[in-house]
Amino acid sequence: MTQTQEQGTADETARAVDAASRGCPVYRSNPHPLYRHLREASPVSRLTPPHGVDSYLITRYEDAKAALADPRISKDMYAAVDAYRSVFGDSSIALDDNMLFADPPKHTRLRRLVNRAFVPRRIEALRPRVQEITDALLDRFTTLEPVDLLSDFAFPLPLQVICELIGVPESERQKAQQLCSVVARTGFSKKDKARLAEAENGLREYFEDLIARKRKRPEDDLLSVLVQTRDEQDSLTDGELLSTLWVLLFAGHKTTAYLIGNAVHTLLTHPDQLQQVVTSPELLPNAVEEIIRFEGSVENATFRHALEDITVAGTLIPKGSLVQIAITSANRDAASFERPDTFDITRPGVQSSHLGFGTGPHYCIGAPLARMEMQIALASLFRRFPRISLARPAEEAEWLTVPFPAFRGLTRLPVMLDPSETPTD
Ligand code: HEM
Repeated sequence: MTQTQEQGTADETARAVDAASRGCPVYRSNPHPLYRHLREASPVSRLTPPHGVDSYLITRYEDAKAALADPRISKDMYAAVDAYRSVFGDSSIALDDNMLFADPPKHTRLRRLVNRAFVPRRIEALRPRVQEITDALLDRFTTLEPVDLLSDFAFPLPLQVICELIGVPESERQKAQQLCSVVARTGFSKKDKARLAEAENGLREYFEDLIARKRKRPEDDLLSVLVQTRDEQDSLTDGELLSTLWVLLFAGHKTTAYLIGNAVHTLLTHPDQLQQVVTSPELLPNAVEEIIRFEGSVENATFRHALEDITVAGTLIPKGSLVQIAITSANRDAASFERPDTFDITRPGVQSSHLGFGTGPHYCIGAPLARMEMQIALASLFRRFPRISLARPAEEAEWLTVPFPAFRGLTRLPVMLDPSETPTD
């Protein structure tokens, strides 16, 4: 290749990355070819985001895995407050005073406070209740009309579960979900930021009120325990308590909701794999892991920033830059996964190799809960509606088009639960 050709290709790559990171629908509906190209041609890409803070995107598996656990790449956004403020604004800073945006020792302290509630043994005890919630949601469906599985099943299921665990009263869950949705959907324009600030302020007021109520009348839930810990041991501040509540509520339902959607869509578009899950239910746990690898719901890890100059795959990431780690890309890296673009629910060793729950100190605390919810949701749905099919062609699926996507998920998932019962004219 001549120097001019090389430059041309580099410019095209830069333009594609720019368009993709701004939420261009072509890349959102199928980001995988672009990520493949980046892994080969530009494994650490410089982004030009609208917020103006220098940002670098890491796309190869080994680099991503190392970066997720690299102490030189900090999660402490309070140390990078100017950069953080220009990306998200003050209202986000106040909500993000939690483990996800902290380094040790603060991270260790905040994570330890809630860790006990999420260990596999405790989560297993919730299984009957999660099954009950799932069954109640499925009971409400009629098979005559198309159903939007995302809004009527994928979202309410994890929302109800995490709200019960935290202690958000049933009558307030809808409101909490709405406020969370605004926060997740906003971009970086002035108008977006104003909407974001309004939703975040609304959430903060709601949380303050909920905390005050738990303080007055403690119940058998995680928030009451945290409030008690706050008051008796003084081991977290008011702001940290509120932010912990926020991260658990937000991360505890959106990720799983989008993953249920991705899972149903992927299985319905790979009928041979679905058939195997249905006839051999013991394959379901591995199928869930392969879904997380193949079409996981967290596309990019949360923001990090370089504490010093760091070189990754030959590219210098200067001190102070934001670092984004493309989990979706890493999980399809041919250097780490055989036939990475093949969806194979029997893929050996996938649970311990995919990065869908992250890795290192910030490894997803909710992974045991998410796994259980996924298994119950999919087993129950396909058992109850074995003839379920997409109501619209797979190519018309509507994927999220948020800029700098944290999530990879569908905006709607219309299905026919039993096409044989569709009335004919
Ligand atoms: C399928 C569903 C889920 C996926 C794909 C997922 C994915 C992730 C990923 C990739 C991270 C690491 C982020 C980073 O390093 O930047 C993370 C962290 C986290 N997740 Fe999940 N998650 C899921 C479900 C849940 C649930 C159900 C909860 C419930 C509490 C939860 C709570 C958290 C928390 C609190 C963290 C931060 C942990 C820390 O900073 O130490 N997640 N998750």
